[in-house]
Amino acid sequence: MKIVTIVGARPQFVKAAVVSRALAEVGHVSEVIVHTGQHYDPNMSAVFFEELSIPNPQYHLGIGGGSHGAMTGRQLEAIEQVLITEKPDWLLVYGDTNSTLAGALAAAKMHIPVAHVEAGLRSFNRRMPEEINRILTDHVASLLLTPSKSADANLANEGVATERILNVGDVMFDATLFYGPQAKAPADVPSGEFLLVTIHRAENTDNPERLRGILNGLAAAGRDVVLPLHPRTRAKLNNIGLALPAKIHAIDPVGYLEMLWLEARCAAIVTDSGGVQKEAYFHDKRCVTVRDETEWVELVDIGVNEIVGVDPARIAAAIERALQPINADRTIYGSGDAGRKIVAALTSAR
Ligand code: UD1
Ligand code: UDP
Repeated sequence: MKIVTIVGARPQFVKAAVVSRALAEVGHVSEVIVHTGQHYDPNMSAVFFEELSIPNPQYHLGIGGGSHGAMTGRQLEAIEQVLITEKPDWLLVYGDTNSTLAGALAAAKMHIPVAHVEAGLRSFNRRMPEEINRILTDHVASLLLTPSKSADANLANEGVATERILNVGDVMFDATLFYGPQAKAPADVPSGEFLLVTIHRAENTDNPERLRGILNGLAAAGRDVVLPLHPRTRAKLNNIGLALPAKIHAIDPVGYLEMLWLEARCAAIVTDSGGVQKEAYFHDKRCVTVRDETEWVELVDIGVNEIVGVDPARIAAAIERALQPINADRTIYGSGDAGRKIVAALTSAR
C-alpha cells in the first residue's frame, strides 16, 4: 500500500511526525511525504524534521507566500503532478491550512481517497481561511478522522455519513506524550515565573486594533511574557511600528522540543493558536484564548480555557484567573494512541 502525505505548515509537521512513525512501524506501507513549502524558514520547518525524526520529504514543492488563491492554486497544480506519478492508495492530509485543501482537492478530483486527520472541527466563523479549508476538505474526504465528540457531532449535523467518520483522538496528545521527555530549554528564557504567549492568527495580525488590544492586555497583566514570534506577526508589528511592552520578551520561533519545555514551565498560556490551546491542557496549564470563538469547545466547557477576544481589561483579568492551578481529567482527546488508530484505519479500510 502507498500513502501520499501532504504537509506544509508548522502544526502539520508535529501531527505528521506521530503518524509517520506509526506507519513506519507497520512495515508494509510506503509513505511518500510531500512538503508544499508553505512554511519555509528553518525554524518554521527544517527544525521539526530534524528534532522529530520525520522522514525527508520525497517532494519539496517550494510554494509558500502570496495570496490564498495563488498559494492554494499553485499547490493544487503541483500536487496533481505528484499524484499522477505516484498513484497512491490514499492521500493523507492534516488540519486546515491551504496545503490541506490543495492536497484534498487534487486527490478527490483524481478519485484517490482522501483521509483527513483532525476532521470535523468548526469555529462557525467563515471569515477564517481555516474554516473554509476544513469544511471543503471534510466534504471531499472518504475517511474523516476526528479528535473529539464535538467534531463527530459537527459532521453529523452537516449530513456526513457516519461510516466515513472515525473518532481516533488527537494526534497532538500522542505527540506531547511521546516527545515530552525530550523537552529542552530554549537558549534565552527568564529564570522566574512567565506567561507563554503565541499570536499568529490572521484576524489578529492583520488588524492593528486587535494586535494593540492583545499587547495592551498583556502589559496590563504586568507579568513577564515569553513570546516566540511567528514571522507573520513580526512582519506586521514592524509594518505598523508597534513596539512591544517592556515585560514582553520576544524570541524567534522555537522548535517543538523547546516549545514543550516552555509549556511545561510557564505559569499559564495566552494564545490564538489552535494547537497551543490543547497543549496547555496536556500540560495542566490554563489557557486564555485571544479570539472570539474556538474549535476546541470542550476545553471551555471543562473550565480550563477562557475565550476573551482582544479587550485589554478582559485579557488582564482572565490572566489573573489563569494563574490558579487546575485539576482536569486528561481524557477528552483520547488516550494517546491516535497515530496507531489512524494507521489501523488506513490499512484495513482498503
Ligand atoms: C498558516 C495557516 C494557519 C496555521 C498557521 C500555523 C493557512 C490559511 N493558514 O498560517 O491555519 O495556523 O499556518 O503556523 O493555511 N512566513 C515566513 N516564513 C515562514 C512562513 C511564513 O516569513 O516560514 C510569513 C510570510 O510572510 C507569509 C506569512 O508568514 O506570507 C503567512 O504565512 P502563511 O503560511 O500564509 O500563513 P500563516 O499565518 O503561517
Ligand atoms: N510551536 C512550536 N514553536 C513555536 C510555536 C508553536 O513548535 O514557536 C508548535 C506548538 O507547540 C504546536 C504547533 O507548533 O505543536 C502549533 O502550531 P501553530 O500555533 O503555528 O498553528 P495552529 O495550531 O494554530 O494551526
